[in-house]
Amino acid sequence: MAQVVLENVYKSFPLSKGEGVASKNAHRTESVNVLRRISLTVNDGEFMVLVGPSGCGKTTLLRLIAGLEDITGGHIWVGNRLVNYLPPSRRNIAMVFQNYALYPHMSVYDNIAFGLRLQANRGEEEKLSGTQREKLLNKLSKITENLLVAATRKLPKGLHYISDKEQVVGEQVGNVAQLLQIEQLLNRYPKELSGGQRQRVALARAIARNPQVFLMDEPLSNLDAKLRMQTRAQIVKLQRQLGITTIYVTHDQTEAMTMGDRVAILDRGQIMQVAAPLEIYNRPENRFVAEFIGSPPMNFIDVKFQSPCLITKGDFRLTLPENWGSALRKYNGRTLILGVRPEHWNLSLPATKNLPAKVEWVENFGNDSYVAVKLIETSFQKDYLTTDSLQVRVPPEKLVNTGEKVWLSLNPDKIHFFDPETELTIFPKSNSPSLPFH
Ligand SMILES: Nc1ncnc2c1ncn2[C@@H]1O[C@H](COP(=O)(O)OP(=O)(O)OP(=O)(O)O)[C@@H](O)[C@H]1O
Ligand SMILES: [Mg+2]
Repeated sequence: MAQVVLENVYKSFPLSKGEGVASKNAHRTESVNVLRRISLTVNDGEFMVLVGPSGCGKTTLLRLIAGLEDITGGHIWVGNRLVNYLPPSRRNIAMVFQNYALYPHMSVYDNIAFGLRLQANRGEEEKLSGTQREKLLNKLSKITENLLVAATRKLPKGLHYISDKEQVVGEQVGNVAQLLQIEQLLNRYPKELSGGQRQRVALARAIARNPQVFLMDEPLSNLDAKLRMQTRAQIVKLQRQLGITTIYVTHDQTEAMTMGDRVAILDRGQIMQVAAPLEIYNRPENRFVAEFIGSPPMNFIDVKFQSPCLITKGDFRLTLPENWGSALRKYNGRTLILGVRPEHWNLSLPATKNLPAKVEWVENFGNDSYVAVKLIETSFQKDYLTTDSLQVRVPPEKLVNTGEKVWLSLNPDKIHFFDPETELTIFPKSNSPSLPFH
């Protein structure tokens, strides 16, 4: 097992013709920076989830670690080996892709055995540093072995010739098949399997190689909701059991929150925050993270701040706990972004410390209801709707109707403030170390 260290990793791709901005230096090849300044340490045995919107660079980062893409700048260490210039086969990393990538013409057994046989052959080649005579003898014994295999293939199963190497491979395939409960599928071909079974075979193939590091790129996105949940739990259990350092890419909220020891959030090729899931949820470092993690997302409202501890919006006036004053002092008289998660509103009574709103629509899920509202402001004693649209979670037993006026109260212990210019969190700050953010 090994830790994976990424240090100032950059990746740029050359732009294809016509994609770049016309410039005087037309002879220069233009490129697009897909990853910038990625520094991340994944500890030995850790399950790190990498999450971010489509196109932010997740797959590219995994491919760089696996050695399937050349690095533009920076360093990648696996264990204490700098792997920047090592070919994929020398990195001892297994990658599981979204589309499983099984060999269609091979049985499940052979799909799993494939990497093991390659590994064994490579091991033998490395050992072959002997004399010309020794090399020749080895070749001869290989030919004899192949002839024996071919000659006994048509005989009943018990009489097949099995080489020592194949015996070891067979044991490893058997063990991993048992672990993933696919023993009964070993003789089938990929086209004879369901999506979930193919996924398990792909996992088995990766595990069988006993890699130092697992890279998984959205491995569950082709599965239905139930199977996804089951396989999610199975992957986490397996990872704990095997203790293999894992980097798991997803853009699924639930996977990000439930699977990882830590979560790294990526946006446009940069890391926004790395922390334990609940730390990210409770103390996002910036507005992007606050909005990206949580479903429905956090609501944002522009409010005015007045020292020592008052926030206002129209007729709304709320006094914050005193200890907030010092963090917010420099914003006196300025606008702040107030962030409130849907579950941190309460439907309440008319009062200036509550926000008036009109219910736009109601979604009832049985265990929960989500209500979309628009804030109301009063001017010249006339109510009008603002453009602020919010999501509010209400208990399902609370009956709310479309068009109804409601008053929203909030718990000051649960709110967030962001700087309107930098969008960085002002309060409450994360305990996880800040990362470069430009
Ligand atoms: N070979 C390539 N040449 C040029 N640009 C590329 C290449 N591969 C990826 N990109 C670009 O790099 C960016 C990141 O792509 P990547 O596939 O890493 O995103 P992703 O985060 O995995 O997205 P998704 O969630 O949709 O899979 C995208 O803008 C993509 O267009
Ligand atoms: Mg991708």
